[in-house]
Amino acid sequence: MNPLSHVAIIMDGNGRWGVKKRKSRNAGHKAGLHTVEKIIEACLKKDIKFLTLYAFSTENWKRPKKEINYLFKLLENFLKDEIKSLIKRKIKLKIIGKKSFSSDLNKLILKAESITKDFKKLQVNLALNYGSKNEIVDTVKKIKKKKLKINIKNISENLYTQNIPDPDILIRTGDTRRLSNFLLWQLAYTEIFFIKKLWPDFNQSDFFKIIKKYKNLKRNFGSI
Ligand code: IPE
Ligand code: IPE
Ligand code: MG
Repeated sequence: MNPLSHVAIIMDGNGRWGVKKRKSRNAGHKAGLHTVEKIIEACLKKDIKFLTLYAFSTENWKRPKKEINYLFKLLENFLKDEIKSLIKRKIKLKIIGKKSFSSDLNKLILKAESITKDFKKLQVNLALNYGSKNEIVDTVKKIKKKKLKINIKNISENLYTQNIPDPDILIRTGDTRRLSNFLLWQLAYTEIFFIKKLWPDFNQSDFFKIIKKYKNLKRNFGSI
């Protein structure tokens, strides 16, 4: 049975779900937040140590202002409402991505990160204003500044995901088969599951089925 410590998810399909069920993309984003809660619970149940969620890409700035504002408002409310519950459940929150948000949101993020920084039960990484190509460029710049050698170890240790093992599983919901600039370096040997369901319809039982499949896979890492 394969060990499992890190699950990464591209939570796709909120907009389509919202349009289909409530004639509003934003309603889909709101519904998607409930799935986030359910999947965090599922990770706790299975003793998974790292969960990385793709919440907003560097390319998502191309969306209409109204949708972007709504997404950030949701995030702000999530941070305000959930912080107590994160602390209670010993969950560490980390943002990966470029932290260039409004000062209110920045404050909330820094506060949530610092209050939860020593928790070990589960680490939730929220990829926010995240783009893998930017991450790699930033990393190479950092390495040059530190006058380190360009090698695999130094790159891995200077990514936004430093100290986080590479994902064992990547799930993308929403019936789309692409990576959309997510963790290009870290996914080199990850087992990928593309799921038809839209993110708000994804549930714990879908998640557990994927884990079961993953556990029984033969992972070669180039060997036989
Ligand atoms: C993913 O759902 C969530 C974010 C990008 C924030 P989408 O909003 O991309 O949903 P679809 O793909 O348009 O249905
Ligand atoms: C990827 O979904 C980004 C997030 C889930 C946050 P998108 O819906 O933005 O991806 P593309 O643009 O269809 O590839
Ligand atoms: Mg999408």
